[in-house]
Amino acid sequence: MHILHVVGARPNFMKVAPVLRVLQQRDGVRQTLLHTGQHYDANMSDIFFQQLGIPAPDVFLGVGSGSHAQQTAQVMMQFEKAVLADRPDWVLVYGDVNSTVAAALVCAKLRIKIAHVEAGLRSYDREMPEELNRLVVDQLADLLLTPSIDGDANLEREGIPANRIHCVGNVMIDTLVRLLPQAKLPDVPLQESFALVTLHRPSNVDEPESLKKILSTLQGLSDRCQMVFPVHPRTRTRMADIGFTKPADERFLLLEPLGYLECLALQKHATAIVTDSGGIQEESTYLGVPCLTLRENTERPITIHEGSNQLIGTDMDKLKVEFDKILCGSGKRGRCPALWEGRASERIADILTGVQTQKSGLRRAA
Ligand code: UD1
Repeated sequence: MHILHVVGARPNFMKVAPVLRVLQQRDGVRQTLLHTGQHYDANMSDIFFQQLGIPAPDVFLGVGSGSHAQQTAQVMMQFEKAVLADRPDWVLVYGDVNSTVAAALVCAKLRIKIAHVEAGLRSYDREMPEELNRLVVDQLADLLLTPSIDGDANLEREGIPANRIHCVGNVMIDTLVRLLPQAKLPDVPLQESFALVTLHRPSNVDEPESLKKILSTLQGLSDRCQMVFPVHPRTRTRMADIGFTKPADERFLLLEPLGYLECLALQKHATAIVTDSGGIQEESTYLGVPCLTLRENTERPITIHEGSNQLIGTDMDKLKVEFDKILCGSGKRGRCPALWEGRASERIADILTGVQTQKSGLRRAA
C-alpha cells in the first residue's frame, strides 16, 4: 500500500510525525512525504523536521505565501502533477490549513482516497478561514479520523456516513507524550513565574485596533507576571505596521518563533498561557496548565468542557480578571480527554492497514 502524506504549515508537522513513525513499522506500507512549502522560514518549518525526527520531504512544492486563493490554487496545481506522477492508494491530509483543503480537492476529483486526520472539529464560525477548510475537507474525505468524540457527532450531523468516521484520539498528543522528556527551555532570560503568549489569528492581529488593545493589555499584565511571547511572522509584520517596537524590559519578552521542544517546555513551566492557537489549547489541556484563549469560540470545545482552557474573546477586562485568578492560584486545571494518551497514530495505522483489505466496503460507502 502506498500512502502519501501532505503537510504544509507548522501545525501539520507535529501531527504527521507519529503517523509516519508508526506506519514505517507496518509491513507492506510505502510512504511518501510531500511538503507544500506553505510555511517556509527555517523557524516555521525546518526546525520541526529536525526536532520531531521527520525525514526530509520526498517532494517539496515551494508554494510559499499569497492570498488564500493564490496559496490554495498554487498547491492544487502543483500537487496535482505530483500526485499523478505516483498515484498513491491513500492521501493523508492533516488539520485545517490551506494546504489541507487544496490537496483534498485535487484528490477528490482524481478519485484518490483521502483520509483526514483531525476531522470533525467545528468552531461554527465561518469568519475563520480554517473553518471553511475543515468543512470542505470533511465533505470530501473517504475516511474521517477524529481526535475526540464531539468530532464524530459534528460529522454525523452533517450527513457523513458513520462507517467512514473513526474516533482515534489526538495525534498531536502522541508527539507531546514522546517528546516531553526532551523538552528544553529556550536560552532566554526567564523569570521564576511567566506566562506564555502566542497570537496569530487574523481576527486578532490583522485589525490594528484589536492588536493594539491586546498588546497594551499584555504589557500592563507584565507588571505582575513576565510575558514570554514568541512572535509568529504574520504578527511580526502587523506589529511593525502599527509601529510597535520591541520593549527593552525583559518582563515583556518578544522572541522569534520557537522550536517544538522549546515551546513545549515553556508551556509546561508556564503559570498561564494566553493564546489564539488551536494546538496550544490542546497541549495546555494535556499539561493541565491554565489557558486563556483570545477567541470568541473554539473548534476544540473539549478543552473547555474537560481541559484547562477558557474562552476570553476580545474582552480585555475579562482577560485581566481571569489572569489575576490564575496568579492567585485558582486557575483551571481540568483533566485529559479520552484517547489523548499517545496511541492515536497506532489506531490510525490499524484502520488504514485494515481498511485496505476491505476496499470494496469503503468504496460502497463513498
Ligand atoms: C497558517 C494556518 C493556520 C495555522 C497557522 C500556524 C491557513 C489558512 N492558516 O496561518 O491555520 O494555525 O498557519 O502557523 O492555512 N510567513 C512567513 N514565513 C513562514 C510562513 C508564513 O513569513 O514560514 C508569513 C507569510 O508571508 C504570511 C503570513 O506569515 O504573510 C501568514 O502565513 P500563512 O501561511 O498565510 O498563514 P498563517 O497565519 O501562518
